[in-house]
Amino acid sequence: MNWATFKNKFEERTVKRTMRERRTKGNKKNPVLPKAWQEILSYFMRARINIIISSDVHDGSLKLYAEYMMRFQDINSDMHELLAFEDVLEEPLQPLYDNLDCYTYEVFEKDPAKYKLYQEAIEQALLDRVAEKDKEKKLTVIMVLGAGRGPLVRSALNAAENTGRKVRVYIIEKNPNAIRTLNAIAKKLWYKKDVHIFSKDMREFSPPEPADILVSELLGSFGDNELSPECLDCAQKLLKSDGISIPCKSTSYINPIMSSKLLNGVRQVLRHETFGRQKQATYHTHAESGFVVLLKNIYNIGLPQSLFEFVHPNPQSPIDNSRYKTLRFEVELDCVLTGIAGYFDTVLYKDIKLSINPQTHTPGMFSWFPMYFPFTEPMDVKKGQTIEIHFWRCVTKQKIWYEWCLAAPLRTHIHNHGGRSCPIYCT
Ligand SMILES: C[S@@+](CC[C@H](N)C(=O)[O-])C[C@H]1O[C@@H](n2cnc3c(N)ncnc32)[C@H](O)[C@@H]1O
Repeated sequence: MNWATFKNKFEERTVKRTMRERRTKGNKKNPVLPKAWQEILSYFMRARINIIISSDVHDGSLKLYAEYMMRFQDINSDMHELLAFEDVLEEPLQPLYDNLDCYTYEVFEKDPAKYKLYQEAIEQALLDRVAEKDKEKKLTVIMVLGAGRGPLVRSALNAAENTGRKVRVYIIEKNPNAIRTLNAIAKKLWYKKDVHIFSKDMREFSPPEPADILVSELLGSFGDNELSPECLDCAQKLLKSDGISIPCKSTSYINPIMSSKLLNGVRQVLRHETFGRQKQATYHTHAESGFVVLLKNIYNIGLPQSLFEFVHPNPQSPIDNSRYKTLRFEVELDCVLTGIAGYFDTVLYKDIKLSINPQTHTPGMFSWFPMYFPFTEPMDVKKGQTIEIHFWRCVTKQKIWYEWCLAAPLRTHIHNHGGRSCPIYCT
């Protein structure tokens, strides 16, 4: 809802009159809005609506109204550090195909929740693997796969210290820039620890010995879009037959949404010629791409439902990481369907989980923004109708990609058919 609609619905004068009445009847010095007004205004403030206060009285009372509104805004708006990212469409990272830069690693490393939960999971796994009586003699081999600049190595070493368990840590990372940082950290901070660094792709790594625990974070906003299934399936040969993978399961979720901001955002993307890997972008290539976006001004047409699941280690033989699922959502209000929001959650170990699904979101964790899969055209949907979404994960040796379409109440073409708009490269 924009300011114009707000103005139509709740005529400006009514606000002033309401505040004035309260002022004369109740507390003379401090104007206050009735509860219903507070509720609707706090909703508008969270949606970042501009509010204009005007007055036809000249007794200085406008200042009181303005002060009241400013206090009200301080209390009710959810301002945060990531404000600039709200509803901004970004191309998802491909850490397998590209080498991430320092800035990206630095952003990951600032997350206050993620590494703490990893540390708890590793602690729990160490305690389960090595009994108190064996802790002096039994060594646990931990492999950190895709270590970046080492935050998960720190989690592993802290976990060992907190539990009093002896560990040997193998660090495997394919990005030579990150390896340089890891070597420098190891020289300075880990020289007394049993830590070994390998500049390798985990899919081709031959370890000196098998691991008790594999620790990785190759998840991406959709759980499997940074190709954790493909990488971890290859790497599970590094793990002892009774070994533990952290994480051990990841699940993606989707729901249909309405967002005029994202609809326009996808159209705007076209104007930025350098956006995306493909220089020859058309509206359709963008409108058929998955984006990463901190969702803000959206209407959830239905609640997220689980889509695809991957477990590690993967017991399947032969392994098939392609997936297909149909999901149905009841429409509760007439609205316009513009696209599909995507989320994931993951089980690190036992009941220790990370989630960006809004229904179970891990408090304070900002490493991952949701996904957005647009439809090329917005579609009117009516209360009582059922939205039927078909979603595929397609796999070849060279690339992985998602396809999606709507089968009801309207039919669309299959978006990103054959991965023509947004492939995820394996090599
Ligand atoms: C999402 S980042 C996470 C980095 C780090 N664990 C953190 O939490 O900051 C994924 C890392 O895995 C590395 N990576 C991805 N695929 C890999 C592979 N097949 N073998 C080795 N490293 C890989 C990337 O270079 C990147 O550093």
